[in-house]
Amino acid sequence: MRVQVLIKEEQGHKTTRREIVLNIAIIGAGYVGLVTGVCLADIGHKVTCVDVDKQKVLKLKKGIVPIYEIGLEDLLKKNIKNKRITFTTSIKEATKSSTVIFIAVGTPSKKNGDADLTYVENVARQIALNMDSYKLIVEKSTVPAETGKRVARTISLNLPKKHKKDGKEKLDFDVASNPEFLREGSAIEDFMNPDRVVIGVESKRAEEILREVYKPLDPHMVVTDINSAEIIKHASNSFLATKISFINAISQICIHIGADVLKVAEGMGYDKRIGKKFLNAGIGFGGSCFPKDVDAFIRLSEKSGYDFSLLKEVRNVNENQKASFVKLIEDKLWIVKNKVIGVLGLAFKPDTDDMRNAPSIDIIEALQAEGAKIKAYDPVSMDNSKNIFKNIVYCEDPYALAKGCDCLLVLTEWDEFKDLNFKRLKTAMRQPIIFDGRNLYHNKDLESYGFEYFGVGRGVL
Ligand code: UDX
Ligand code: UDX
Repeated sequence: MRVQVLIKEEQGHKTTRREIVLNIAIIGAGYVGLVTGVCLADIGHKVTCVDVDKQKVLKLKKGIVPIYEIGLEDLLKKNIKNKRITFTTSIKEATKSSTVIFIAVGTPSKKNGDADLTYVENVARQIALNMDSYKLIVEKSTVPAETGKRVARTISLNLPKKHKKDGKEKLDFDVASNPEFLREGSAIEDFMNPDRVVIGVESKRAEEILREVYKPLDPHMVVTDINSAEIIKHASNSFLATKISFINAISQICIHIGADVLKVAEGMGYDKRIGKKFLNAGIGFGGSCFPKDVDAFIRLSEKSGYDFSLLKEVRNVNENQKASFVKLIEDKLWIVKNKVIGVLGLAFKPDTDDMRNAPSIDIIEALQAEGAKIKAYDPVSMDNSKNIFKNIVYCEDPYALAKGCDCLLVLTEWDEFKDLNFKRLKTAMRQPIIFDGRNLYHNKDLESYGFEYFGVGRGVL
């Protein structure tokens, strides 16, 4: 099917601006798929978003966003109004009305660390069964290398008989990889201003179509084969996780030697070859990507015959960062049993409600196992937390949280925690101790208010 092109004339100057409007389907309207769909609509394409979750689709049709992502609801409402985005539970409807079909369904971890591709395979099959013309099927979800080949094979095997002659498919299609690099909390910004757009393609036609998809953003395009594109995604996430575990390992050395990891990171970061970003020591990385993608890459490497011991150590350092933070609390509180601990921040990072693999989960459960009583406050993720934790008292603000606490933990570095009234906090607490898991505060400031302050890697404890 020819790529559908609409010529639109700009008003006023009578100039003709050739806008490429593609019909695009996004299968899976989660954190990744929904942001991708809304942004593709906003840059001018016609988008159909599919999700298996009927309730989610009903909310989205009304312009209600089921996740917390700054700016997303306004952008969604604008594009619903412009009739550039619609929602459905039907893969059939979306397949028939689109040329480009992005697969953005979940790829959760299996117990052994492998990515579970059940949803990806199922969606590939549903697309095949409903194809009646050329389609470009694009992997947006983070998937192991060689998944593209498996998607292509699934489609070939499931094409309706009418599209086959002597067992060979008559209907033309392409599969491509287009990994996402969106950070939760800045996903729209990251989509609209990408450092690069990576496309893994096996045909000129697929390359041209994907270039048209992203043309309005005029990004730097990295064009390669599908396997390399899939590896770029795993390698990028794994490298970022490695950088975080590196500075976390340095924080442990700083504790033993007596140095300030913030100063070490500052001194390192001015070197342009190192860079300042992702050098914040703390209780480690969480989220729906780094932990899962590190595990998946380790497994993928093992299966390909390489023991990725470096990445295994990245994972070990990350686990140890949480354990050593709990140990610090046990050391300084002395008796944990029946102590009241106030937790400031639950989400895996600020500006999101996402609790997937949040470091707060292991830390809180370890302290509860020691008999601690937990109170918690988080600006947006307390609803999601209620499905995860048992026996936690949720508070409506940091001051209600502090009341009667034997210590406070900072587990998410929300902006609103930056300028709390520490005098008021101290008065409310039973004893003024702060364990700062994200090095949000400067010890000197808090010690001047009479707090005992413990950060991560901030000198000898
Ligand atoms: C997920 C993975 O975590 C990420 O690694 C991958 O790159 C993209 O998919 P995310 O968007 O955060 O990212 O997942 P999630 O929020 O779980 O959204 C997946 C959506 O797909 C959900 O809304 C789910 O209802 C939907 N889905 C899942 C389908 O529509 N069909 C399915 O068969 C399975
Ligand atoms: C990440 C990648 O950045 C993004 O490119 C990919 O598409 C999805 O996964 P995200 O998980 O949303 O994005 O958040 P990010 O900002 O990368 O933080 C991930 C985790 O690392 C968080 O738990 C954060 O607290 C932690 N982190 C980040 C650190 O501990 N130190 C840092 O310096 C930076």
